[in-house]
Amino acid sequence: MNRTPPVARTLAELHATIRLWHAAGETHALVPTMGALHEGHLALVRLAQTHAHRVVASIFVNPTQFAPDEDLARYPRDEADDLAKLTSVGCDLVWAPELAEMYPAGFATRIVPAGAAAGLESDYRPDFFAGVATICTKLFLQAAPAAAVFGEKDYQQLCVVRQIVRDLNLPLTIIGAPTIREPDGLALSSRNRYLSPDQRHSAPALHSAIEAIARAAAEGGDIEAATLEAVRVLTWKGFQVDYVTVRDAETLGRPQANAYRPLRVLAAGRLGSTRLIDNVPA
Ligand code: PAF
Repeated sequence: MNRTPPVARTLAELHATIRLWHAAGETHALVPTMGALHEGHLALVRLAQTHAHRVVASIFVNPTQFAPDEDLARYPRDEADDLAKLTSVGCDLVWAPELAEMYPAGFATRIVPAGAAAGLESDYRPDFFAGVATICTKLFLQAAPAAAVFGEKDYQQLCVVRQIVRDLNLPLTIIGAPTIREPDGLALSSRNRYLSPDQRHSAPALHSAIEAIARAAAEGGDIEAATLEAVRVLTWKGFQVDYVTVRDAETLGRPQANAYRPLRVLAAGRLGSTRLIDNVPA
């Protein structure tokens, strides 16, 4: 039976534990989260365990990545449940600072990524990636992990984090973890709990729609026609579609003709007030 991981609330507590690991010659990996943990997060912890001796999971609902009209206030918070789940997978330490520890009075620095951050999510959430880039850079500097694990479910976020690490020469490796799905294909997300039964019934259409585009791309079919058809089907299923698009899997730029680089199909849309995103390789 695993022991409940200790929870560090201050940088001093975080560093005290990490110092002990270093003294014992142990490496550690970081799994950044905003809590509301589900099987997808636990898969990140399991993957992190294969890359380091110890795993730190951070739980911090980062206000700077929420726009004023977004769901910061209603973002689910249940630390006891999160701790039970992290215990079940043998996580070694939880980094759960208070707001004032993370953003003390006078905090005034923002990291504003371009490149992979341009377009897609940024067209709908203009400040999102500056918030993510700032908090992830802080987390990397605070916890100094050898590696950090991010889910491919938030594919643009993963590309942006890789870019920050590359651009700023941050001394860690970023590991992408495959998306965990419900049996009907819906990607696990903390926001799925907001779906009504009818919306939950329609939600897997997002995955089927992008899979159909990926199949068309793999078979040398007409990607543009497949994309238009995906938007049509999703709209019919009740989605208010933000985007459905095929991009270069690394830069997220528009694919160049005959470039033969890996592609990614990405999509986002709302069912009622719940925004869902998904992506698959093509
Ligand atoms: O993906 C998330 O949960 C968040 O964007 C992250 C990476 C923990 C930063 O707050």
